[in-house]
Amino acid sequence: MPRPKLIAANWKMNKTISEAVAFASELRASLPSVPAHCDVVLIPAFFGVRPVVDALAGARAWVGAQDLYWEKSGAFTGEVSADMVKDAGAMYVLVGHSERRHGMGETDAVVAKKLAAAMGAGLTAILCVGETLSEREGGLEAHVVERQLAVAFTGVAPDDARASVIAYEPVWAIGTGRTASPGDAVAMHRAIRAWLQGRFGPVIAKAMRIQYGGSVNPANAADLLSRDEIDGLLVGGASLEVASFLGIAQAAGAAPAD
Ligand code: 13P
Repeated sequence: MPRPKLIAANWKMNKTISEAVAFASELRASLPSVPAHCDVVLIPAFFGVRPVVDALAGARAWVGAQDLYWEKSGAFTGEVSADMVKDAGAMYVLVGHSERRHGMGETDAVVAKKLAAAMGAGLTAILCVGETLSEREGGLEAHVVERQLAVAFTGVAPDDARASVIAYEPVWAIGTGRTASPGDAVAMHRAIRAWLQGRFGPVIAKAMRIQYGGSVNPANAADLLSRDEIDGLLVGGASLEVASFLGIAQAAGAAPAD
């Protein structure tokens, strides 16, 4: 079974509720033009999750949240639990996005707790990993990504890991206009899948999806998506307009149906 491509829009701290709903409604009308082997996910800020779920009800598109907190409930002002994310109707949740790791000080250990909480609530986690520019320049990129994976999946059973998605987002490619070359992305995706295979075995490693993220746009999406190793894209800036996000999702049609 080929892995369906997963095209996700990470809106970050953009779009009010009404803007998010307007986007979802406009996208919905165009979803028939997205290839059938492509899953589309919109990831608004927390307030937009439920309204976007409602706007997409019955459509072939899903909704995610950008973050969660690992405790079930209690005195954690400003935080949102996995059960709350699920209750709002999200199926997916980003975990360990580089803006949280590098901007908000999230450690590998914090990311591991969030991943466990997401899996415990039955959410599909999109675990973000990726190296900084200096780490790449130092030849440390595979080492860094493997460390991020190893800590995040500490103690996770293979069957629990299966539903998770990995998003390889090199920090130097996020919001910079500097996309990883398809060759560099493919090399890292192979390294990630080899790591997954060593940790979870070949069957589960083969089933897990690995997305690429970092300055994806409608012009570079088809080349990235045509690679067997790249199971989808996590899109920031170019996901804010329906036309460009749709162009990226439609580029999944360039993918061999293998
Ligand atoms: P850009 O597509 O804006 O580079 O952002 C990528 C990203 O961080 C998606 O999560």
